[in-house]
Amino acid sequence: MNLLRFDSESAWIGAVCSMWRDRLRTTPALTMCLPSGTTPAGIYADMSRGGRTGLVSFARATVFALDEFGGLPADDPGRTRHTLQRQLIGGVGLPSSAFHFLEPDCPDANQHCLDYDKTIGDGFDLVLLGIGLNGHLGMNEPGSPIDSPTRRVELHGTTVASSARYFAHQNLPRWGLTVGLKAIMAAKEVWLLANGPAKAEIIQRTVRGDIGAANPASLLRRHPNCSLFVDAEAGALVV
Ligand code: PGA
Repeated sequence: MNLLRFDSESAWIGAVCSMWRDRLRTTPALTMCLPSGTTPAGIYADMSRGGRTGLVSFARATVFALDEFGGLPADDPGRTRHTLQRQLIGGVGLPSSAFHFLEPDCPDANQHCLDYDKTIGDGFDLVLLGIGLNGHLGMNEPGSPIDSPTRRVELHGTTVASSARYFAHQNLPRWGLTVGLKAIMAAKEVWLLANGPAKAEIIQRTVRGDIGAANPASLLRRHPNCSLFVDAEAGALVV
């Protein structure tokens, strides 16, 4: 795992976006798996500005949403699909047919997950990930097998509690669908993103602690091409 540490959040955003634009220039038909959450919001805002000013285009790219909350109304603005659409997809010229997302409340979620993995096909060129306070990746909570497929998962209590900031109501989701660790580990390139002081402890454990399912993010140390981007605060305990 390459550790890339930046002095400020703005430098961290600038570096991720610069490298991301580079990947899209080199491979316009890039296939990406992208998270929602608070971590990438500034990055998506910067990429969207680039989209509007012609600095970057997703016109030939493909995007898969990393996960989706279950048990919410289809139009809940806190759902991953809508967050990605609002923060990124709408601004970068991605054709709507190239945006794939999970539908937790479809009649046969198991088949839907199998189909999602089939559509992913040859795999992702690039996966962006936030990190949960317990090390989860997407909704792959601690204990998730390294070869897990896209599937339904129950969220841990701490994940439910910390999801409150995504929603304008108290009906917090307790389960969801997530791309599995198998597809994440098979990606050509993975970028794990962390900013702010709340992530310092889990980043320290991810970089220096044991590698194992107890901390899913630690498994990325076995990935051949994974970079961890941290700002000064998230990287403060990594010495
Ligand atoms: P956050 O969530 O980006 O909102 O901090 C990350 C996560 O829980 O995966």
